[in-house]
Amino acid sequence: MFESVPVNPPDAIFGLNELFKNDSNANKINLTVGVYKDASGQTPIMKSVKLAEQILLDNSTTKSYLPIDGSPAYRTAVAELILGKDLSGKALASTAQTPGGTVSLRVAGELARRVLGVKTIWMSNPTWANHPKIFGQAGLEIKQYDYLDESGTGLDFEKVKASLSSSQKGDAVLLHTVCHNPTGVDLSSDQWTELGEIMKTKSLLPIFDFAYQGFGEGLEEDASPIRKFVASGGEAIICNSFSKNFGLYGERVGGITAISQTAEAAAAMQSQIKSTIRTMYSNPPIHGGAIVQTVLTDADLRNTWEDELTGVRERIVALRSQFVDKMAALVPGRDFEYINRQRGMFSYSGLSKDQAEALRNDHSIYILGSGRINIAGMNADNMDGLCKAIASVL
Ligand SMILES: Cc1ncc(COP(=O)(O)O)c(C=O)c1O
Repeated sequence: MFESVPVNPPDAIFGLNELFKNDSNANKINLTVGVYKDASGQTPIMKSVKLAEQILLDNSTTKSYLPIDGSPAYRTAVAELILGKDLSGKALASTAQTPGGTVSLRVAGELARRVLGVKTIWMSNPTWANHPKIFGQAGLEIKQYDYLDESGTGLDFEKVKASLSSSQKGDAVLLHTVCHNPTGVDLSSDQWTELGEIMKTKSLLPIFDFAYQGFGEGLEEDASPIRKFVASGGEAIICNSFSKNFGLYGERVGGITAISQTAEAAAAMQSQIKSTIRTMYSNPPIHGGAIVQTVLTDADLRNTWEDELTGVRERIVALRSQFVDKMAALVPGRDFEYINRQRGMFSYSGLSKDQAEALRNDHSIYILGSGRINIAGMNADNMDGLCKAIASVL
């Protein structure tokens, strides 16, 4: 059987990383990757995480299975982090721990199709490359809603609405809650309100992908699209990840939360989430969830974590502004302000595929063909060279 199996083409980002690794230029720069880098180019372990791990090392007594939906204290802490204390006390949330955001999305796809009878999911064009694959493998039909304006670096909200006007009652809509990947282009608060109204009027199910809480404006501010929708009485599914905001990439920790309108529905959704998980991975891994639970429920550790996350966010904002200032000086006729308006780690730089190739071939600077750059890959050592190279290919 295996003889006739075709080779699956490698992931585009993975391929670029291989090229980067083999590039002998000492001044090479990699802005392709999807992980946070600090000023020294490392993806560090947070101090709060190390402290929590020490507590766990000293106190944990068993490696026995967690419940199918994770530890109850983790579930409460996650619902509170997403919804806020007030709303999480009132909202009928069914939360489960998942191995990262990817699995959370996959469980959401499975639930949507098998339990809720959803056939079609709408996602932004462009979106994270894994989104259509995850929901496609969950058996949903993928449709796209337009997202960007003509420049390719800002939002065209009229186009979003126009695309969604052909959606049908009972379709799901995948929404990047904050720090849209790959573009960095988010909806404004008023646009979220308007979209929420449309979703409710048309009976569409929002699936909020929440992979960057704390990377935009702050933990509370970044959750506002979800909180606004839930407070106004809508059903929703929220898929969150702690890969980025805790730097726990390889520990695989995240969650899925369904918001219901009655206690009976919430209990039924919890049971369905559990039965879905049972056949997919049975129960979540212990370590990452225990770290998050320890940090979120200990006042000192939580303060340390929030300070560290603030540091990450402020570094990214500062890099955006340094980049814009340098580019404005190098290419005076061109407006780079859109880089400051975008949020999070990623940015649609406005560079074309040809310009991305020229950067790679002539300057050993690696960005995605779409023009997506990882802002966190910039630092004091590479900023000058990067800006000069971009100016030369423009
Ligand atoms: C938009 C988006 N959603 C989900 C994920 C998945 O995160 P995880 O690594 O926790 O599976 C990512 C990771 O890059 C992402 O960018």
